[in-house]
Amino acid sequence: MRIVIITGASSGMGREFALQLDKKLHSIDEYWLVGRNEEELAKTKKKMHTKTRNFIADFNSRKALFPLVQELNNIQPEVKMLVNCAGFGMVGYFDRISYNDNLSMIDVNCRALTSLTHDCIPFMAVNSRIINLASAGAFNPQPGFAVYCATKSYVLSFSRALRGELKDLGIYVTAVCPGPVNTPFFNKAERYGNVYAFKKLFMADQKAVVSKAIDDSIRCKEISVYGRTMRAYRVLAKVVPHRFIIELLNLMHKLKK
Ligand SMILES: NC(=O)c1ccc[n+]([C@@H]2O[C@H](COP(=O)([O-])OP(=O)(O)OC[C@H]3O[C@@H](n4cnc5c(N)ncnc54)[C@H](OP(=O)(O)O)[C@@H]3O)[C@@H](O)[C@H]2O)c1
Repeated sequence: MRIVIITGASSGMGREFALQLDKKLHSIDEYWLVGRNEEELAKTKKKMHTKTRNFIADFNSRKALFPLVQELNNIQPEVKMLVNCAGFGMVGYFDRISYNDNLSMIDVNCRALTSLTHDCIPFMAVNSRIINLASAGAFNPQPGFAVYCATKSYVLSFSRALRGELKDLGIYVTAVCPGPVNTPFFNKAERYGNVYAFKKLFMADQKAVVSKAIDDSIRCKEISVYGRTMRAYRVLAKVVPHRFIIELLNLMHKLKK
C-alpha cells in the first residue's frame, strides 16, 4: 500500500497540499492526514477523492504521534511522500512571548517534524519524497520573530543535510521557504505583536506556493522559493552581513512604535 502523510492538514498550506496532491498523484492508495483541529481536519478529508485517514495530534505532546507510528508498524505501508507542514510562529520580542509559546514553537516546528521524519524513513523506498516547510525567515535571524526564524533555520539546515544523507537511497528532501503567504498563520501569529506592514505587501497565494513546492519536489529540488521577491531576498541574506539586517529590523521596530 502506498501512502502520503501530511501534517498541518487542518488548515492553510497543509490542507492545500492534500487537495493538490490528491489531484496530481495517481498511484496513491491512502492519504494519512494529521492535524490538531478535528473538525477542520474532517473538512479536508471530505474534499479528498482518494481514501483518507485522519489522525488527531497535538504536537505539544510527545505522545501525539504514537497512534500514527503504531499504524505504520502494523500496516507496513510504503510512504511515497511525507509533507511536514504543521507549524506556527509568534511575532514579538522573545521575553514578551510566554515561556510555553516560545517552547511550543520548538516542539511543533522542530521536534515533531524531526520525530515523524525519523519514523517514516524506514518505510520509504527509491523515488520517495520528503517536503519540509521552512520559511524565508530561515535565511537570517529576525528580532521580533527570533524563535520562529531560529526554528525555520533548523528545518532548512536539517533538510539540506538529510537530503545529502538520503540521496543515495533515492529519497529526495525539499525545504520549502516561502515569504508571507495568505493563510490563517497571521491570525495566530499576532497575539503579542504585529507583523511589519511591508511584509503583508508581499503576501503570496497559498495555491501558487504549494503548487510550486510540489513541482520542485517532483523535480528533486533542494529548496523551493516562490516568487522573485523572495528569491532576491534569499540572495540579499547571503551577501549582506546579518548584523546589518538585524540593525535595520531593530530600527524599523522602533519606528513602528
Ligand atoms: N503563512 C505564511 O506566511 C508562512 C510563511 C512561511 C512558512 N510558513 C510555514 O508553513 C506551514 C503551514 O503554515 P500555514 O501558513 O498553512 O498556517 P496555518 O493555516 O496556521 O496552518 C498551520 C497548521 O499547523 C498546525 N499546528 C499548529 N500547531 C500545532 C500543534 N500544536 N499540533 C499539531 N498541529 C499544529 C495547525 O493546526 P490547527 O489548525 O489545529 O492549529 C495547522 O494545521 C507552517 O510550518 C508555517 O510555519 C508559513
